[in-house]
Amino acid sequence: MSSTVFRTKKVEQSILDTEEPAHALKKSLSALDLTVFGVGVIIGTGIFVLTGKVARENAGPAVALAFVAAGIVCALAALCYAEFASTLPVAGSAYTFSYASLGELPAWIIGWDLVLEFALGTAVVAVGWSGYIRALLDNAGWHLPEYLGGRDGAHGFGFDILAAVLILVLTGILVLGMKLSARVTRLVVAVKVSVVLIVIVAGAFFIDAGNYKPFVPKPEPVAAGGDLKAPLIQLMVGWAPANFGVMGIFAAASVVFFAFIGFDVVATAAEETKNPQRDMPRGILGSLLVCTVLYVAVSVVVTGMQRYTQLSVDAPLADAFKATGHPWFAGVISFGAAVGLTTVCMILLLGQTRVFFAMSRDGLLPRFFSHVHPRFRTPHRPTVLLGVVIAVVAGFTSLSELAELVNIGTLFAFVVVAVGVVVLRRTRPDLHRAFRTPWVPVIPVLSVAATLWLMLNLPAETWLRFAVWMVLGFVVYFLYGRTHSRLARGQDTPAVPPSQGTRG
Ligand code: ALA
Repeated sequence: MSSTVFRTKKVEQSILDTEEPAHALKKSLSALDLTVFGVGVIIGTGIFVLTGKVARENAGPAVALAFVAAGIVCALAALCYAEFASTLPVAGSAYTFSYASLGELPAWIIGWDLVLEFALGTAVVAVGWSGYIRALLDNAGWHLPEYLGGRDGAHGFGFDILAAVLILVLTGILVLGMKLSARVTRLVVAVKVSVVLIVIVAGAFFIDAGNYKPFVPKPEPVAAGGDLKAPLIQLMVGWAPANFGVMGIFAAASVVFFAFIGFDVVATAAEETKNPQRDMPRGILGSLLVCTVLYVAVSVVVTGMQRYTQLSVDAPLADAFKATGHPWFAGVISFGAAVGLTTVCMILLLGQTRVFFAMSRDGLLPRFFSHVHPRFRTPHRPTVLLGVVIAVVAGFTSLSELAELVNIGTLFAFVVVAVGVVVLRRTRPDLHRAFRTPWVPVIPVLSVAATLWLMLNLPAETWLRFAVWMVLGFVVYFLYGRTHSRLARGQDTPAVPPSQGTRG
């Protein structure tokens, strides 16, 4: 059995599959489109919402260092993603990479895991967006009935109508085609980045240096006392849970990691890129760099404007301006955040549909889902199915603690990709790699270690939920994917010589 579940899909086969007319996506994206896509999905709830919460609860002004730590973990992973995406420009990101390097079961597992990242991530951000919109509506004097504002705070029935509608509208845009969505994204990203720059430049004038003292607040014991909310590492080695101090910076990093999620989504659009070998690494590393610089600058400014103990948990950037007596800026920032979160949702949804599409093209999910629309050339079936399901989930669920599940799912994918780079270098040294991860295996090993460290800083209950989801994935694979896989059924086109592996 191990030989079947670890069967790998040839890199050449993956690339051939993308050329079957009924299953081929349109290639229309450039390096700039990819970078815009990256920034469009990366900057979102993480910086607009989580900065305040972690500064207050975990790190104080040192939240800037937490962003640096999370950024380093992501940069290490990005170097691995860039090698894969430039070697194997096929929809599906970490899923496709694992199929080529580690085998079918690991690939399935990672695909299943990416559902957690993308689908749940879409829902989390949609709910955050709806909160901003409701706040803006409230300011304008329009109040939605409580039962249409989501489950949080509702007495009895609650459905977040705004979050659900947002996801359905985005689904429609994605069905109509990549080019349209790239155009919409460009505009929205411009608004979002402008707002972030306003925070940095205008906020710098309102910094009070006294707010930085102490920069790393003294550790404070918390009453968690070994329950499932404590980071797994603390339960494992028996440390008493504490906030702030150096350990607080790492706990904060494992949360603000959410702010970086998305650069890996750039890789899911590889197949729709005109020159993926050159543009993929540029898109991935470029968007990550831009966002890291912005995040560190924003967190330094915001913790300088307001004492960390006073930062707001819901809208820290806007509220810091209110607190310094500039409500006009606060309104502009809330508006920008609301606009900006739409692209985060859209691209997470896009990533999800592409992974689903790739899994179904391989037969691990029903093949019905891998037919592209004859006119729009987009995978309309998984897009509609997932859009509707996620809209319902976002409408009905209270998702605050599920954001951590999104983090663990993504971090797990990072581990698999880093291992995959090393494995594929050994098993297929002949492949043309337009971008090579430097210092292999040092960088992949460092990437795995750093990623695991962040994972261990997540709460034990998050690990438990993650385990349940993964067990469910195993069951589905053994009941369906293992026997329906195209590889298993020998339905792939006959093997081609390795030298034809990559397009130039
Ligand atoms: N990085 C994205 C955000 O912060 C998911 O919303």
